[in-house]
Amino acid sequence: MARIEFVEVSKTFPGANLPAVDRVSFTALEGAICMLLGTSGSGKTTLLRMVNRLADPTAGQIIIDGTATTERDAIALRRSIGYAIQQVGLFPHLTIADNVRVVPSILGKSAGETAGRVDELLILVGLDPEEYRGRYPRQLSGGQQQRVGLARALAADPAILLMDEPFGALDAITRERLQGELVNIQRRLRKTILFVTHDVEEAFRLGDQIVVLNEGRLMQVGTPVDLLATPANDFVRRLVGADNVLRQLQYLPVTLALEPVTGDMSSARRIPADATLLHALLEMISTGVSELLVEEDGKVPQRITLGTIYGGLQSGRRTNAATAH
Ligand SMILES: Nc1ncnc2c1ncn2[C@@H]1O[C@H](COP(=O)(O)OP(=O)(O)O)[C@@H](O)[C@H]1O
Ligand SMILES: [Mg+2]
Repeated sequence: MARIEFVEVSKTFPGANLPAVDRVSFTALEGAICMLLGTSGSGKTTLLRMVNRLADPTAGQIIIDGTATTERDAIALRRSIGYAIQQVGLFPHLTIADNVRVVPSILGKSAGETAGRVDELLILVGLDPEEYRGRYPRQLSGGQQQRVGLARALAADPAILLMDEPFGALDAITRERLQGELVNIQRRLRKTILFVTHDVEEAFRLGDQIVVLNEGRLMQVGTPVDLLATPANDFVRRLVGADNVLRQLQYLPVTLALEPVTGDMSSARRIPADATLLHALLEMISTGVSELLVEEDGKVPQRITLGTIYGGLQSGRRTNAATAH
């Protein structure tokens, strides 16, 4: 695992009036998925490419496990970090197996040494090695090529994985499937992942941590719940759709809509404190009740009702409306 600290990182391209990245500071947590979220041109790709030294900051530093990237050899650093992009960039004249082992073979491993590893990686990304290792990229669908791209990025077992809109060109169903598989893979591998996206839904689905960028500047860093419940400014509120009721239900926890128990609820249905409002609502609808008991460790149980859910959503929107403009 690795920890990546961005310290006042700026990048101004030659001839540009404004910086593409402007004094960005945050820390990507070890073993977590950190989403870089922003509209087109907000500096996401530029920020990502400075981590593996495809570009260097014009000011500030990126520090990986205590060492600034600029103190590391650029080529060695790049090979030690996995990189997956939307265009995949598989070599058309190499088989899938040879594409996956590109980095290990540059590092001096023979095909014999890496054969087992290649099969393992193909299985990990959901491709049957028997069927796919000897094929060529043109014989694969876009989604399958992305899977190979991910296997290749993981081949040298990097602690850090950089992903730049890797699923951006896929249809919605394939994209969702690959997002789910990335989450499963990450559960096992625990890489430090920096993932660029302009898709809020993707950021919420995958992110342990979301970094919101606008015009090169950092707007907010937080969990999906942080961004929804307490957007730092109007830009974040609009971007994440803090007013979007369905999204609030999907991500906000029941603990934001509790009230003390009155009367006897000893036989009431219970729901865990880490459940979402949507989870609670579906539980109520499917069992035909209008209140549930929420038990938090070491606390007096409280209840959630249709009324408190509604109140919770309303109060979030009132706060947001109050800070608008
Ligand atoms: N190599 C480059 N030379 C000059 N300007 C660039 C270069 N790469 C990106 N930019 C500019 O930097 C800004 C941020 O771009 P980018 O990081 O690609 O944004 P994003 O990935 O969020 O869409 C844009 O204004 C873009 O035109
Ligand atoms: Mg980009």
